[in-house]
Order: sequence, then structure tokens, then C-alpha cells
Amino acid sequence: MKVLASAPGRVNLIGDHTDYTGGLVFPMAVDMTTRIEFDRGVPWVELVSDADPEPAVLPLEAIDEVEPRLVRPAWARYVAGVMWVLRPERGGTGFVTSTVPVGAGLSSSAALEVATALALGFEGGPLELALACQQAEQVASGVPCGIMDQLTATAAVAGCALRIDCRSLEVAAVALPDDVEAIIVHSGQTRSLTASPYGVRRAQCDDAEAIIGPLRDATLAEVEAIAHDDLRRRARHVVTENRRVDDFAAALKHGDLTGAGALMVESHQSLRDDFEVSTRRVDTLVDHLQATPGVYGARLTGAGFGGCVVALAAPGTEVGVDAWRARPAGPARVTEL
Ligand code: GLA
Repeated sequence: MKVLASAPGRVNLIGDHTDYTGGLVFPMAVDMTTRIEFDRGVPWVELVSDADPEPAVLPLEAIDEVEPRLVRPAWARYVAGVMWVLRPERGGTGFVTSTVPVGAGLSSSAALEVATALALGFEGGPLELALACQQAEQVASGVPCGIMDQLTATAAVAGCALRIDCRSLEVAAVALPDDVEAIIVHSGQTRSLTASPYGVRRAQCDDAEAIIGPLRDATLAEVEAIAHDDLRRRARHVVTENRRVDDFAAALKHGDLTGAGALMVESHQSLRDDFEVSTRRVDTLVDHLQATPGVYGARLTGAGFGGCVVALAAPGTEVGVDAWRARPAGPARVTEL
């Protein structure tokens, strides 16, 4: 049977480095897509990508003996991760094409995982699919990522951003107003999270929680009482960022774009100074965008350490650098061909 599976990338409007402590995030799926045309049947998986001459060839039966993190080519690790988690009964052969840039903070790996799982015949709801793919990402990359990227790809609603509560895993769609546009600009710094301090940041959040309990429930007074400077600043980012997500959602609902933009600026400052996941190039780009007439606010998006910046702007705003005007896209899906 031939199928076409597709999954979107995402941009996070606000709420970064909060998901893995059960916090709040506010991403939207974007009209950048990974597609897999897949002919189901053979007892192995063989995928050819338009971005790499080397194919992914993986066994079904001996998948236990495959260490996903060591698979070559590197993109095939995510395919191996999905197989490792799902243990599909049949494989197939196919082609992967993608318009999600790699290493840009727009969740190209989550899009590949979700599309792979659907191509392989995953049956289940958006949350189960996202949880399986989050596990696949962790197995494939060794990065202890949260649920945001995969759940955005599986639960997206066209025309909307999502407020995701990463503790209850409830997803609420919030319409993006017509008089605003999300603009994405690449800093030019691509990065792999495997080689980044992502895991260190997550561990610091765990350490802060060992002192004051779940960051989701912590007050700023409790945070300020943490003696260790790094841990206090990491915790302060998470606690204030959770608040900003709800304030941002409320601002959007009331059409207060100036207020929403100001929260993005605060979020960037917090990620830069307290969580320390920005770079000089990203900061310069954010400053440039914030100084551009028509831009309400700008911030780094996703894990940071390079990658992309997102801005909220009046439709048609010229930002003077190469930019994608992202439209909120619908969820991953699979159709028979
Ligand atoms: C990466 C992870 C997500 C999330 C973001 C930061 O994209 O995969 O789970 O932690 O970084 O918000």
C-alpha cells in the first residue's frame, strides 16, 4: 500500500525551556513540511532523502541491536528512533522531502519522526503519537527534550497557535489574529542540540526543583531564596516564562498586539540573561527586528544556541533581512495514494 505522510515544523511564539518542567508553551505549526511517500510492505525500512545521497536502510527484526544514536547517515537516527519505539510489524521503501530547515530551531527532527511514525502505520491519537515520537527523539539524539515539538506537529490546528500545558498535556487552540504575522528569521547559526548545553539546563532545573519543588507551582519569592546564583536564574526564567505564556495568550485574545510584543521582548531578555541560551548573533538580530517599524516584538525561538528568531509584526512589514512569513498550519496526517 502506498501512502503519503506529512508533518509540519513549528515556531514557538513564547514559552521556551518550560516544557520539560511541566510548564506552559505557545507554539504554532508552520507551513514548512516534511513529507514521506512510502510503499508499505517489505520487512525493512529504506528511505531516500532529497537532502542526502546516502539512504537510510534499517532492519525491522534486529532493531533491538541497532543503537539509534550511532546510525548513519545522521538523519536516519530519527527514523531508527521511531522504529525502536514503535517496533512496527512491516516496513517499506520511500522518499523523504522537507522544507523544514535543519538545525534552525524549527523542529525538523520532530517533523521527521512524526511523518515516519505515520508512514509506518502508527495508530492512535495525537497525544500518543507525540509521546512515542518524543521518546524516539530522546533515543535518537540523547537530548532529554520535552513534548512541545512533537505535540505541536500532531495536535496543530490550522490558523491557530496552541497553548499547551505540558503538565496536564491539555492543548487549547488560540486563533492568530488576522492583523498580525509571525515572521521567522534565521540567525545563520545552525546547531545540534546533542552538542549543546540543553541537557545541562534541564539538569539545573531539576536541581532547582530539588530545592523548592515543582517550578510550575513555585512563587518568585521561593525562587529568589535559592542561594546558588545559576540555579536561581534558571528557575526565575521558568517561573516568569510560564506567566508570560498566559499573559501573551490573553493579550492575543484581546487584540493587544503591543502588549504581546512586549512580552516577547521580556521573554528574550530572560532567555538571554537568566537561562543563557542566546548567542550574540541572535541578540543582534532580535535588536534589529525590535527596532523595525511594524514589529511588535521579537525573541529567539526553540532551544536557542543559534537557530531562528521569531517576530510578531503587522502584515507586510519589511524587516530588511531574509524572512519567512509563517502561516499557522494544520497537523500531521497520512493519506493513501
Ligand atoms: C527543543 C526541545 C523542546 C523544548 C525547546 C525549548 O525544541 O525539543 O522540547 O524544550 O527546545 O523550549
